[in-house]
Amino acid sequence: MLGSRMNDVLQLDELLDSRLDQGRRPVEPCTVVIFGASGDLTARKLIPALYHLKLEGLMPEPFRIVGFARREKTDEVWRSELREALGRFSRTQPVRDDVWAAFASNIHYCHADIADPVGYERLRSMVMAFPEERLRSNLLFYLATSPSQFSEITAHLGQAGLLHKKETGITPERIVVEKPFGHDLGSAQHLNADLTRYAHEKQIFRIDHYLGKETVQNILTFRFSNGIFERLWNREAIDHVQITVAEKLGVGARGGYYEEAGALRDMVQNHVLQVLALVGMEPPVSLEAESVRDEKVKLLRSIRPMSREQVAQNVVRGQYFAGEVDGEVRPAYRSEPKVKPNSSVETFAAMRLFIDNWRWSGVPFYLRTGKNLPLSASEVRVQFKPAPNVLFNASNEARLDSNSLTLRLQPNEGMTLRFNGKVPGGGTSLRPVRMNFSYDSEFGAYTPEAYERLLLEAMAGDATLFIRRDEVETAWGIVDAIRQAWVGKPLTNREFYGAGTWGPFAADDLLANDGREWRNPQRSK
Ligand code: BG6
Repeated sequence: MLGSRMNDVLQLDELLDSRLDQGRRPVEPCTVVIFGASGDLTARKLIPALYHLKLEGLMPEPFRIVGFARREKTDEVWRSELREALGRFSRTQPVRDDVWAAFASNIHYCHADIADPVGYERLRSMVMAFPEERLRSNLLFYLATSPSQFSEITAHLGQAGLLHKKETGITPERIVVEKPFGHDLGSAQHLNADLTRYAHEKQIFRIDHYLGKETVQNILTFRFSNGIFERLWNREAIDHVQITVAEKLGVGARGGYYEEAGALRDMVQNHVLQVLALVGMEPPVSLEAESVRDEKVKLLRSIRPMSREQVAQNVVRGQYFAGEVDGEVRPAYRSEPKVKPNSSVETFAAMRLFIDNWRWSGVPFYLRTGKNLPLSASEVRVQFKPAPNVLFNASNEARLDSNSLTLRLQPNEGMTLRFNGKVPGGGTSLRPVRMNFSYDSEFGAYTPEAYERLLLEAMAGDATLFIRRDEVETAWGIVDAIRQAWVGKPLTNREFYGAGTWGPFAADDLLANDGREWRNPQRSK
């Protein structure tokens, strides 16, 4: 009896499982050309993602993958290198040999130099020999190279007649551009000018892999498919918002890159500001790419600009010195390979931003990100205003904790609503209790890699999860103002933090000055 009631409930739930992607563009047969085919990203992320799309029956039929790189090798050699790497990086194990065999037979290698037009002619002949028309015309060029080569590759593709600038058309050629997209506003504008000489903005897909994460996409679903939260999502109910993107890893072997980037360019300009945009944006008029991106860019433009003095009051940086993370000894940033011994590059950044629009006026958004922190955890904590200072709140010696909603983006993906409850028994003792939603217990452990979703969307030509030109430029404007204010300013003592701690004292001061404190992500049990 109970069993059949349960089934009824489950069936009802399934009916409610509304499929929004029915009108979504189908993935047509296509050729994916990867520049930087010998690189780390290809082996670690791109090929495993494409393999999993094949495994799940999501790859179009037919398809082709062409690797473009300088080292001379045959298709067979490249395939076996990729197979070996897949064994190490695949999120599902063991790799299915039957699926791999069917997948790998579509992989080819084009031995060519990025700077040499002859290589693009070779690529063209290779692609034009593919048997089906759509494999020859529906082309996705994935630029997984050093950013300094993005312009050059695009120009060669245009000149070789492989990339045609075209605003309309169901399956025009597209280019996918990895991050970092420029290193400041000026260079991003230059890069945009270079790329748009050969490709229309609609053909350019700028990657921010955070947008491919299931939980990041769910921010919009959560906000705009539920009736109860959105009416609290404003300055009336919310005291402040904290966004934390913490990483347990140090800079490690990436010192050379990191000396140029720092936390601000590496994480804030893209991932952290994208999460902020999704948390803060207004409801879009539709779920079309342009409507969603219009709202995100409006939000970024509403961030209050900061003068040099305001940067000093609202932004702090940090750099780790030696310490321990989970019992493992970590060297100081300044002792990492390829890092200058007196470097003042930030491995941590925290800031207080204000969004000057009707919804958020006066609500501080505290953002922080850093390396060598105690945990790898990304979350958004929405801290609501406290209950009025009467009744329970008045009679408690310590003020009651105010409610909060935490969106856990990774790991232990889910949400927690915190509110006060009465401790059972005589007397009136209250303490915060939690209501928890976990993706894992609701949907099972399946959370596809961000790159799977992003590659699928790029193949389908849907740009919603990619960054538009005005977004990337606006984000650089915000970050540039901060960087300029730091020029010539050495780090102070309060800006250093031990590896394995939650960042420098300066970051605690930032909130303490407002009578608040950071709420650190909890270790998952
Ligand atoms: C990358 C940064 O974009 O994002 C890295 O360059 C960082 O420094 C990484 O470690 C974090 O991504 P994730 O998915 O591990 O949170």
